[in-house]
Amino acid sequence: MMLTIDGLNAYYGKSHVLQGVSLTVDEGEIVCLLGRNGAGKTTTLKSIVGAVPTRTGRISFGDRRIETLRTYEIARLGVALVPEQRGIFGLLTVEENLAIAARTASQWNLAAIYRMFPRLEERRRNRGTALSGGEQQMLAIARALIGGPRLLLLDEPTEGLAPVIVEELMTIVGEVRRAGVSVLLVEQNLKFCEALADRHYILDQGSIVFTSDRAGFVSAHAERERYLAVAAY
Ligand SMILES: Nc1ncnc2c1ncn2[C@@H]1O[C@H](COP(=O)(O)OP(=O)(O)O)[C@@H](O)[C@H]1O
Ligand SMILES: [Mg+2]
Repeated sequence: MMLTIDGLNAYYGKSHVLQGVSLTVDEGEIVCLLGRNGAGKTTTLKSIVGAVPTRTGRISFGDRRIETLRTYEIARLGVALVPEQRGIFGLLTVEENLAIAARTASQWNLAAIYRMFPRLEERRRNRGTALSGGEQQMLAIARALIGGPRLLLLDEPTEGLAPVIVEELMTIVGEVRRAGVSVLLVEQNLKFCEALADRHYILDQGSIVFTSDRAGFVSAHAERERYLAVAAY
């Protein structure tokens, strides 16, 4: 197993946000984590990389326990979080954003990144602030990939993006998987999840309330309606 979370609890002050979350991501898998706003999805991703103030439970990456490690140590092991706010450097150019994240151990060098993201090559001399939302999202993912991750954590990558960009991201995430990188994907866009994910988890009020494979998710009408507030179809 690439990632194993077992009995994860997370707190912000006295507020007990994650209440015993357990989930796994296998080698080469794309796993989708769904749930309403406030369910605890972002907190789950932040907990994996050690970026929430207090958490208990076990988190293993391969056969290493990582819940006691610091964020930079977890990153160095090959876990990359692409946060919802994307976190790119607005004053640096596209190419500078990529250059500072590049690691020689990555299977993607700059040329390979530009083959995968032709829009970024066109924009390589532009500053981060000059990019569209879709280009910023692509740069955030590209920057994670050039750092050579084995597990990519994506927090709502399609949020606010035009359908044509969402299509491009779908192709890119598929390519990431084919390259052997596992993906834990937090999404509200069900079509995106269904097109990509091997397995699904639904989080509600800090607990995993539903787990299924691809086929099980499509037919889970009651759970989709109850926890995702989408009409059954
Ligand atoms: N920094 C924070 N301080 C206090 N409460 C927070 C903080 N971040 C998130 N929360 C709360 O934790 C819960 C889960 O939030 P979050 O993980 O962001 O949910 P999701 O990503 O599923 O929308 C929510 O009730 C939210 O208000
Ligand atoms: Mg969130």
